[in-house]
Amino acid sequence: MTRNKLREFHSARWSEPVIMEMGAPGRRGTVPPTAWGSGDPSAFVPSGLRRTQAPGLPEMSEPDVLRHYLHLSQQTMGMVGISLFGTCTMKYNPRISERIIARPYVADVHPAQDPATMQGVLQIVHQFSEALTALSGMAAFTFQPGGGAAAAFTHTAVTRAYHASRGELGQRTEIITTAQAHPSSPSTAAAAGFDVITLPTEEDGYPSVEALRAAVSDRTAALMVNNPDDMGIYNPHIKEWVDIVHEAGGLCFYDHANFNGVMTRLRAAELGFDACMFMLHKTFGVTKGGGGPAVGAYGCSEELSKFLPGPRLEKVNDGFVLVESPSSLGRIREYLGNVPQVIAAYTWLTAMGGNGLREAADLSVLTNNYMEKRILKIPGITKAFPQVTKRRLEMTRFSLAEITAETGVTAVDIQNRMTDFGIDAFWLSHEPWTIPEPFTPEAGEAWSIEDIDYWIDVLAHVVDEARSDAELVKTSPHNQAVARANMSGLDDPERWATTWRAYQRKNGQQ
Ligand SMILES: Cc1ncc(COP(=O)(O)O)c(C=O)c1O
Repeated sequence: MTRNKLREFHSARWSEPVIMEMGAPGRRGTVPPTAWGSGDPSAFVPSGLRRTQAPGLPEMSEPDVLRHYLHLSQQTMGMVGISLFGTCTMKYNPRISERIIARPYVADVHPAQDPATMQGVLQIVHQFSEALTALSGMAAFTFQPGGGAAAAFTHTAVTRAYHASRGELGQRTEIITTAQAHPSSPSTAAAAGFDVITLPTEEDGYPSVEALRAAVSDRTAALMVNNPDDMGIYNPHIKEWVDIVHEAGGLCFYDHANFNGVMTRLRAAELGFDACMFMLHKTFGVTKGGGGPAVGAYGCSEELSKFLPGPRLEKVNDGFVLVESPSSLGRIREYLGNVPQVIAAYTWLTAMGGNGLREAADLSVLTNNYMEKRILKIPGITKAFPQVTKRRLEMTRFSLAEITAETGVTAVDIQNRMTDFGIDAFWLSHEPWTIPEPFTPEAGEAWSIEDIDYWIDVLAHVVDEARSDAELVKTSPHNQAVARANMSGLDDPERWATTWRAYQRKNGQQ
């Protein structure tokens, strides 16, 4: 295999305190003019809402703040290194989308203002919803869920509301999923109070129709699956699966996180699904961030739409109104969700157009199969379910187990060492691993052939290093700002903290 010469890379390293420890009393970024002539502006704030103490924020000048964040950004690769992060299709976030949502008539809209004063924003949200209807066949969408897992949870809540409305919730206690489904399917099903049945993967790379038949009963509330799964394997029997679950009275939810390779090639409704979700922060080019800054668009059939979280956006005559359905399951999140991200996704979608989406889907499958051929030429790398000869779609799961057995170097070591060459860490696999020493790269449509070849060259080089100097790889990364993060406190609620105040308290500083 001919290889490119690898570029030298070294991250900047600043011993930077956290911003809460910076600044000095009295420093300011900007000094606003005195408000409304004379008098105390705080008199305008009702006394019950007034602070009695100033917030404990750092006081800093504008250059200090800018320098701090510049330093932090220099210590990361900021998703513009070569980032082939598989499953859920991580994409470049186009600047045009960012510029549009930074404009005041998007950024300054407050969700509590009168809908009559934000008709333009509501129109875009509505048009985007219609575009997703065209892509999925689902009748209605909500953008409240803050990511893919939140959309899966929305489905479990809709499932409860649907069976309750038919007087069957007490009987329908089980949700069926598969071993290769994303963990958010079984975990949200369990969180919503259902018993989870997980079908094991069989010879073909997915569970058999017989296994599904054996699991389905009058206790079945829903099926929750992704397809292709996170190994890139597509289950061609999916329509039959949906029919089986429907015959038993259950609902079917399509986790469309891996939508990239099938965009415009199939529609959830035509496969019979009752509901699906798209991840705007992945397929639609929007900023990543599950559980909050992101958006999991949840769509469902006409029949289920009355259960969707409120308020629902509806078109009346020439305008848009927000309505509450008496059967709504309530709120999954506040207002309409993260609307600027919906507008960013709309920007991406309209820039791509229908033909662009199809080209991107086909290109992502082509790219993956090109990558797979080259990667499998590296001695010691195998692919998951090698006996499945059907082509993978937009990603392939590989295994480094033979290299680990030969050298002691693990998939995590190889992942770390690759970052020494300016490559973003690859995705391994969701937990629990079903394939030993896994990794799952995905290029989508976004990366050039030079980038992809370079990525594979780095991988081949690091595998060579594992054989010639295992210690170098095991102790990597060597060229990054931080060698290894200390993860020991992650599972210990006494040690982790999500706010500065909690951090100080837990470290005896308060
Ligand atoms: C197939 C699949 N479904 C759901 C999710 C969850 O998405 P999020 O991280 O936005 O909660 C992921 C993300 O890893 C995924 O790969």
